Order: sequence, then structure tokens, then C-alpha cells
Amino acid sequence: MHHFTRIEGALYAEGVPLEELADAIGTPAYVYSTATLTRHYTLLRRALDVHHDAFGGGLIAFAVKANPNLSVLATLARLGCGADTVSEGEIRRALAAGVPASKIIFSGVGKTDAELAFAIRAEVRQINVESAAELFRLMVIADALDASPAVALRVNPSIGAGGHARITTGGALDKFGIPLEQALDLYEIAHQSPNLTPVGLACHIGSQIVDLAPLEAAFAALRDATQILRSRGLPVTRLDLGGGLGVPYHGQAATPSIDAYAAAAARALEGLDVEAAFEPGRLLAANAGVLLASVVQVNERPDGRRFLVLDAAMNDLMRPALYDAYHEIQPVYDQGGEPVPYDVVGPICESTDVFARERVLAPLEEGDLVAFMSAGAYGAAMSNEYNSRPLIPEVLVNGEEWALVRPRPSYDEMLDREIKADWLD
Ligand code: LLP
Repeated sequence: MHHFTRIEGALYAEGVPLEELADAIGTPAYVYSTATLTRHYTLLRRALDVHHDAFGGGLIAFAVKANPNLSVLATLARLGCGADTVSEGEIRRALAAGVPASKIIFSGVGKTDAELAFAIRAEVRQINVESAAELFRLMVIADALDASPAVALRVNPSIGAGGHARITTGGALDKFGIPLEQALDLYEIAHQSPNLTPVGLACHIGSQIVDLAPLEAAFAALRDATQILRSRGLPVTRLDLGGGLGVPYHGQAATPSIDAYAAAAARALEGLDVEAAFEPGRLLAANAGVLLASVVQVNERPDGRRFLVLDAAMNDLMRPALYDAYHEIQPVYDQGGEPVPYDVVGPICESTDVFARERVLAPLEEGDLVAFMSAGAYGAAMSNEYNSRPLIPEVLVNGEEWALVRPRPSYDEMLDREIKADWLD
């Protein structure tokens, strides 16, 4: 559930009409809802608290990649949320937003030496190591820093899952994680190193997962691996169950409930006496954001096909172009009228700049506003300046108030970031 609702035909973000925001900051723009972020975090927190013992409390570490906006992170941090990070930039963002280092997990398949050293110095909660090569590099770096960072090994359980082949991470051919057998041996090696403190295992098999079965299989694999490691006399105190739970982009309740997800995880961890961590990204942020756009024009072809050309494009919201992702599109003012099919497109010179084909919408005209729903995760986060379109602004709404939390750069600001080679002057 989210807090973008219609009042007398007009779409609101909590207590603020989206039209007011469009007037104030222009379009396109991302709009986030504090109440929705809070609601999702609280629902997950409560669901985990039901199984407090199985999870040893349980840390929620928001996957920063889903929405790295500082105000979004700070909103979650104030609720007690930690952060799952995959770069020095993300660690810095999490710290700047007020997430304590003790709640920051550092994941990622290609952490550089500099990033590993930064994470050690920052004293993050744990580094999730994803390969033998990384483990050995980390040993050397930690030795040089005279440190012994907490390490979890991310295993690849050969269970891929997710809403699209391009967002699967746990399959045998995926680049992520360490094959289970190898992870068991590496754990022992890590244990013998004075410069590593192995604390447990981690796993993340994919994203937009709408079926609990593969997640349960992955959790069971972690459980089995824990028991094997312990039978070899190796301590395992933490299990990181990753993120991946899907959200209902189509509006229907096709996704597992948060309670069912927590119960499944608890069944796997029951009696293990470990501290669990969860790394949700989409679950917390997707429905907490919309992309607000204006209709530039409607191009009608002689054959009747209508192209709804928006001022937002694939550089602002890549998910449809990249994964054929579906985002519900709502007119900000529902003026009634017989709905008609539109090909909803952006102005970019690429034929993949299509948000939806033959989407049936209430009639729209030049200047009308539309909102892409469920755009709070992997929306602004993945945007870029293709076609020299400056990054679009982000707004955070909180009840009746709102704040521009990332302004729209001017064209000069965009150009001023570059330096012309001196021989071209
Ligand atoms: N933990 C790790 C190690 C991850 O790689 C990811 C996401 C997450 C947690 C959070 O997963 P979530 O709970 O959000 O499913 N850009 C794609 C999604 C890519 C996800 C990558 N990893 C999209 O727009 O659908």
C-alpha cells in the first residue's frame, strides 16, 4: 500500500497535490512519500519482530542502490534501518545520511583495494566477500591496516530467481557469489587468518521475486552450510538473507506477503542461534515513489496509432527499456472520457525509449500530467544524462510539507562539469 491517492479526481502525494509540485519544480521529477517508506519499513520490522528469536533481532539493511537519495536514506536511518552498500560512494552516502557504520554491510562483486580499505577504516558492520580472489586481496589489505574486519562469504547456491532474466543473481552462471563447496573451504581459510573475522554467510539470489519457493531453497542452503561449518568447529554467528522480495507493479496482490516471507525465513533459521540480516531495496522504496511527467504532444498517425510523447524518457526511468518492466501510468487529473490506447514514449532518439505499448488511458492532451507509479526503486537511481538531458529533480513529501531534496541542475551546471582540453581553446 502507498500514500499516492486520488482526492476529487486529483492525484496527491500524501497531503500534497502532484500538480502543485509540478507547478513549483517543473517536470519530469521524482516524488517520494515519507509515509510510504515508513509504512513499508515498519511492516517489515514488525513481521521480523514476530520471529525475534529466530532472527536474533534481525537487521534490516536497505539496499542503497534502489534509491540512494540522501533524504530517503535519512528517513529510513531515523527508523533504525541499516544499509546494504556496493561501493565507496554508497558507504559514504549511508554514513552521510546518518546510518551508523555498525549497520552498514558492504557487498559487491568487484570491490577495489581502495574501497576495501575504506570500508575497513570506516569499520562497517561486515564485508560480504564474493570470491576467493577478493578474500585473498582483503587479507593483504587488512594486514596492511593491522585490522581484522568482520567478513561474511556470499554464497552462490545455484538458485536463480527474479522478475526478469537480467535481474537474476543466484544462478550458477551468474557472476555473483562463491559456489557453496568452495565457500566452505574458504571460510576455514578465513578463520585461520589473523586478519579476517569470519562471522557468517550471505546470499542474494535475484530481484522482484514473486514466489517464495526459491527464496526458501536459498535460506535452506544457508542453514545447511551453517551446520556443516559448525560441524567443522567453525563459528557462524550471522546469516545475511539478501533482498529480492517482489512488489505488485500491476496493482494486484500477486506477491507473497511480508509476513509469509518473514515466516519462511524464520522456519529456515529456527534454532540456529544466528543474527539475521535482510537487504530489501525494492520492497521498501518502489511504491514510495512516482515519476511525474508532462505530455509534450500526442502524435496521431493516419492508421490511428497514438504516440503519447512525454517529457520523461528512458534516461530518467530505464526499467521499461532495460527489462520490459511494467509501470502503471496514471493521469494526475482524471478528466473522465472514454479511455484509448497510447504508445507511451519519451523524446530520446532510440527506439527502446518506449514506456508502454497500447496502454489504455483516459484521454490526454498536451500539457497534461501523468505519474508513473512504483518508480521509487531503481528509478532515479539508474537515471543518466543521455541525450544531454540533465538529471531530474527529486522531491520528498512528508504529510502536508515537501522538500526539494535534489534540485534540477541548470544546463550551465551540466556543462560546467566538463573541462575543454586546453589545445581546443
Ligand atoms: N542485496 C544485494 C546484494 C543486491 O545485489 C540487491 C539488488 C539487493 C540486495 C536488493 O534487491 P531488491 O530487494 O531490491 O530486489 N535494477 C533492477 C534491480 C537490480 C537489483 C540488483 N541487486 C530493476 O530495476 O529491477
